[in-house]
Amino acid sequence: MARVAIVTGGTRGIGFGIVRLLVKNSFIVYAVGTREKEDDYPEFNAFKKNNNNCKYICANIQNAKDRQKIVDTVMRNEKSIDLLVNNAGVAPKERNDILKMTEESMDFVLGVNLKGTFFLTQLVANTMIEQVEKGKSSGIIVNISSISSDTSSVNRGEYCISKAGVSMITKLFADRLATYGINVYEIRPGIIDTDMTSTVKEKYDELIFNKGILPLKRWGKPEDIAKAVLAFALGLFPYSTGTVIDIDGGFHIKRL
Ligand SMILES: NC(=O)c1ccc[n+]([C@@H]2O[C@H](COP(=O)([O-])OP(=O)(O)OC[C@H]3O[C@@H](n4cnc5c(N)ncnc54)[C@H](OP(=O)(O)O)[C@@H]3O)[C@@H](O)[C@H]2O)c1
Repeated sequence: MARVAIVTGGTRGIGFGIVRLLVKNSFIVYAVGTREKEDDYPEFNAFKKNNNNCKYICANIQNAKDRQKIVDTVMRNEKSIDLLVNNAGVAPKERNDILKMTEESMDFVLGVNLKGTFFLTQLVANTMIEQVEKGKSSGIIVNISSISSDTSSVNRGEYCISKAGVSMITKLFADRLATYGINVYEIRPGIIDTDMTSTVKEKYDELIFNKGILPLKRWGKPEDIAKAVLAFALGLFPYSTGTVIDIDGGFHIKRL
């Protein structure tokens, strides 16, 4: 039977890359995005039209009712959830030094990246536990954090704090769910070419190609992240949980 996946933020960027690869590998995939009309995601929409196993759920993970809607829709249609990819995330609307960052921006970024991710994980985890208790297969959870989980950027501190929090969500749920055979993993992307980084393209071009910030001198692509998600999703790491994989062109290596 085809395995069933939820990919939050699966309509654009990294999430869409994950959706494409999972669908190609025979998963039934529910992509979550906030826009009511799928037409607002032209590339995703075109892909969905040609792939019956790609579905769309309009939901904002910040909102409890919407999170319930995600789980109810998938359970009603498929009767199980085998994989949750917590990918949806936002950057601050405006980059501001931490000496000027506003409470509003902190609430927005933590509301999506941290609170939304935590409570959707809680909801799906409880659903997966019920599945295990009924003798069905256990699930897998993959969190998409960031190099910002442990790298300081003083002009988007709220984003760094939210991603450090996502890394703790990985540890907490890996620990709590191990007894049920539900493994939890984390992928830490580096600089990936998506809408999120389009506003700082010149800055990162300079860092990558002229300043040598990365051992592997290129932008990351959504496909780079998707391949790691697929390896976890296929169950190729059965004796690992709470494991973090850096997909960052070697950014995390301390260099002299
Ligand atoms: N790009 C990078 O360099 C980079 C590096 C490290 C980590 N990351 C992380 O990777 C993830 C994906 O990033 P990306 O670059 O692909 O971002 P992106 O291009 O901005 O896409 C974000 C996706 O998340 C969805 N989303 C945003 N807020 C949501 C909410 N409240 N509820 C449901 N869906 C929501 C968006 O849908 P809508 O269009 O409906 O808003 C969109 O599908 C994020 O968690 C990001 O922090 C990115």
